[in-house]
Amino acid sequence: MEENKRYPMPIPFGWYCVGQSKDLEPGDVKPVRYFGQDQVLFRTSTGEVAMLDAYCPHLGAHLGHGGIITNDCIECPFHAWRWKPDGTIGEIPYANKIPPRAKETQIFKYPTVEENKLIYAWYHPKGEAPTFDVQVHSELKDPEWADEWDVYEYNVGCHIQDMAENAVDAAHFVYVHGVVSYPDFEVSYDGHKRISIQKADMETPRGTVPGSITSKSSGPGDGFTKFEGICDTLLLGLTTPIEREEVIIRFFFLKKKVNGEVPEGGVAAAIIKDINKQVKEDIPIWENKKFANQPVLCDRDGPIAKFRRHYATFYANEDA
Ligand code: FES
Ligand SMILES: [Fe+2]
Repeated sequence: MEENKRYPMPIPFGWYCVGQSKDLEPGDVKPVRYFGQDQVLFRTSTGEVAMLDAYCPHLGAHLGHGGIITNDCIECPFHAWRWKPDGTIGEIPYANKIPPRAKETQIFKYPTVEENKLIYAWYHPKGEAPTFDVQVHSELKDPEWADEWDVYEYNVGCHIQDMAENAVDAAHFVYVHGVVSYPDFEVSYDGHKRISIQKADMETPRGTVPGSITSKSSGPGDGFTKFEGICDTLLLGLTTPIEREEVIIRFFFLKKKVNGEVPEGGVAAAIIKDINKQVKEDIPIWENKKFANQPVLCDRDGPIAKFRRHYATFYANEDA
């Protein structure tokens, strides 16, 4: 009998969204859980964001449950030790002096960046530094585009790789999502990036409008799709592992304005509705499947093997 384990893979390294900038104001402290670990996410009064391992090295309190910001440090709810955003000790209010061991202690700090009005944290199972950047979207600063994300979130019980593999699994679009014509896309790889281009001409009463759907990912957690043609829409699909077999996927949509106004209905709304419909159709498959390590494939399955070879470059361990 084979071991009943759904996935042989660990959590891949990369940049992952851990929330929106607007949800973390100066002085805010939040307990979070990503990558199978507990963290505290906070913003100091000067605006600096930090994500540290949750547990205080003194006597183990969770800094996110009752911790507050004092003197730009995270103050532990248990005995008020104050830790700087870099994870080193700032103050011990009741001690005569800071002991040498406390000076040598550093709580693990996840590299973080704020881009696209979002907060991203870098995860690497061995704590190694980032080897690439997050993708930055200029549309957010462009007056021709909306300036707020339209957000949808789903928690799903599956490994992050399975969700990503969906994008290159051509046949499922027909059988799970009811897409009428068999999807025809070209996928290419460039270092840590994956680029997929699909022609999507649309028939309109005024004739055919040439269109395209371009998707780019930078590592496992940072992907976006741009719909161009009859309507321009940007979609970030950011998946973050919570556990090895549980993820949160966040969709951030941004619409291009039409005659100076963000369109309410129309094609952009139809795209958003369709993406949400698709993910709800995918979820029962994802949550109940088991990773097929040596799949039996046919000629029109899409470039799954190539996708997996590229995805494997984000696993830190050879044997994983
Ligand atoms: S456990 Fe944090 S200060 Fe004591
Ligand atoms: Fe799908």
